[in-house]
Amino acid sequence: MGNEEETWVVMKTARAPSNIAVIKYWGKRDEKLILPINSSISVTLDPEHLSATTTVAASPAFEKDRLWLNGKEVSVEGVRYKNCLREMRARATDVVIESSGKVIRKEDWNSLHIHIASENNFPTAAGLASSAAGFACLVYALAQLMGVQEKYEGELTAIARLGSGSACRSLYGGFVEWKMGQEIDGTDSIAVQLAEESHWKDLVIIIAVVSSRQKETSSTSGMQESVKTSPLLKYRAEMEKAIKSMNFTEFAKITCADSNQFHATCLDTSPPIFYLNDTSRKLIGLVERWNRHAGEPQVAYTFDAGPNAVMFAKNKEVAAQLLQRLLYQFPPSADTDISRYVHGDQSILESAG
Ligand code: DP6
Repeated sequence: MGNEEETWVVMKTARAPSNIAVIKYWGKRDEKLILPINSSISVTLDPEHLSATTTVAASPAFEKDRLWLNGKEVSVEGVRYKNCLREMRARATDVVIESSGKVIRKEDWNSLHIHIASENNFPTAAGLASSAAGFACLVYALAQLMGVQEKYEGELTAIARLGSGSACRSLYGGFVEWKMGQEIDGTDSIAVQLAEESHWKDLVIIIAVVSSRQKETSSTSGMQESVKTSPLLKYRAEMEKAIKSMNFTEFAKITCADSNQFHATCLDTSPPIFYLNDTSRKLIGLVERWNRHAGEPQVAYTFDAGPNAVMFAKNKEVAAQLLQRLLYQFPPSADTDISRYVHGDQSILESAG
């Protein structure tokens, strides 16, 4: 490249939402390739509430790959970033910069350095799947920058998986399954969409942020220490059926049971891992009492690797009641900051005041 060419920068920005697992992934059969011991199912949230926005840029003026997370520079030397960048560079194509007509050749991507800046609009690493949104967004933004086209469906999800397992599910909206796959190279360990965003319109998701503090045990180290939980496996087919037929009773039973088994597994790890706190347990109690009183499930809960609750309300009316109860029983305070993110119909926020 000539000197006058060394001033250009090419840039792309993307946004990807978090996802919340209703059948959880917890344990790897291959640590390097991030291959799970079971398939998992999640729902992808609205990007307005919980998402990562990532800008990726390339320029011959950049001397090395660099990364900023929420405005702070962090190392890009981690194996997960390196793996994602390597896989994307390997799939890069010739890209024409629209404004100047300049062509970045496929082979140029091997020597061009990348700058990455990523921001979350929600607490990082507090058990709200920040790495999922982050790596999904990174891979998607790089695909736009480098002109990467999938050679098979789900190829990008397999690359996002190398960044963080749950990230593969954030590349699709709606209900998504991460298929554990069989191949040793992980090419079939991909995410597929089970039902699109518009499916099951009645369902409302409410997130109660119990604590925005960084979790003490990361998912990665936590699951290394946990034992394999086979009971989770048998729910998978039933969960898929419940989602497709919009059967809230079944969906709620399996979602809560899966969450409780996951946290039981965490407690059964040596030394035990505590992700739930007193407020989380009170929230579980509130939902359990409500459902028992109603005779059939109206609300379901699930907790990832942190104390924050993700609650599913059967419909808008139930969601409005739930929000009212949350505001009444858990008023925002110094140690409990239950702010509310709602996925689904926004009008319930007004009705809950
Ligand atoms: C409890 O995807 O964060 O949220 O693959 O090691 O990056 P790594 O772990 P990560 O684990 C998520 C665990 C979970 C359950 C789930 O999302 O399925």
